[in-house]
Amino acid sequence: VSDASTHIPVLPAETLGALSPRAGEVYLDCTAGLGGHAAAVAASLGPGGTVVLCDLDAGNLARAESRVRGAFAGTVHAIHANFADAPDHLARLGLAADMVLADLGFASPQVDDPSRGLSFKRDGPLDMRLNPAAPISAADLIAETPERELADLIFEFGEDRHARRIARAIVEARRHGPITTTARLAEIVRGACPPSRGPGIDAATRTFQALRIAVNDELGSLERLLRRIASAGQELAAGRGGWLAPGARIAVISFHSLEDRPVKRCFADGVARGWAEALVRRAVTAGESETNANPRARSAKLRALRIAGGLGQSAV
Ligand SMILES: C[S@@+](CC[C@H](N)C(=O)[O-])C[C@H]1O[C@@H](n2cnc3c(N)ncnc32)[C@H](O)[C@@H]1O
Repeated sequence: VSDASTHIPVLPAETLGALSPRAGEVYLDCTAGLGGHAAAVAASLGPGGTVVLCDLDAGNLARAESRVRGAFAGTVHAIHANFADAPDHLARLGLAADMVLADLGFASPQVDDPSRGLSFKRDGPLDMRLNPAAPISAADLIAETPERELADLIFEFGEDRHARRIARAIVEARRHGPITTTARLAEIVRGACPPSRGPGIDAATRTFQALRIAVNDELGSLERLLRRIASAGQELAAGRGGWLAPGARIAVISFHSLEDRPVKRCFADGVARGWAEALVRRAVTAGESETNANPRARSAKLRALRIAGGLGQSAV
């Protein structure tokens, strides 16, 4: 599934249902990835439609762009940026999005490529940056963060109850030399945790998640994007235009509770304040056939809302 042309996105039908693309509309894909969702949306936009692709990872952005361009006669823009800044790029292009999708996290080729340092299953440099031009790698973070902060980070972003022991073991190990590979870090983390009872998840999983979130400031970027959506929604409700078109549909797919919580809060707030209406009553999850075919879909949660104004559409 690493090949862009065969990659199947998560919750494809549910996402399309929530976004309900129409001919001639403008679609912003905040997390272009391998272009799976974007290609599916583009298929409904016709030659008058516009697809704006955004990704922090230039390699993924290029893959998504070539996939969409290969099958779509409309206009395509590719922006190599953090999605929190995508609204500024849209404004610069003079566009207002009718649909926005953020399918959070990483794509399989990023994890499968050992040189990215995202996986402990294959040894590689301890990097973890989705954008290789970002200033701090996971190895830098591990080398420089004081023990207490490291423990807080692993506890908060990894929700690992062994965070303190893990941080202590990392600090002890780094006294003997820099920790520069994923296999070395995984070995230190496993050594710090009590043996697991049965075939659960690998003891290193949560620490790796925590470091990836911290290195890429994933929750900070998500919060910034949600704030941009909320303020654009409020502006539209007050009759002022912006980077979102009246009636815009917004969908977010998250993969763990740290991501889902702020999305849920922002969307509930939009409905309560009257600048949006929910498009799905509760988070949509994948069915059994999808989770059997794609284990990553197991933790996927889709939330969607419609910004006030424009044509009506009721919740499903
Ligand atoms: C799960 S993949 C998206 C897959 C895509 N929906 C598809 O169907 O192929 C997530 C993508 O988001 C990108 N990404 C993660 N955080 C980002 C951010 N803050 N800004 C822009 N792109 C981001 C990653 O580099 C990755 O390519």
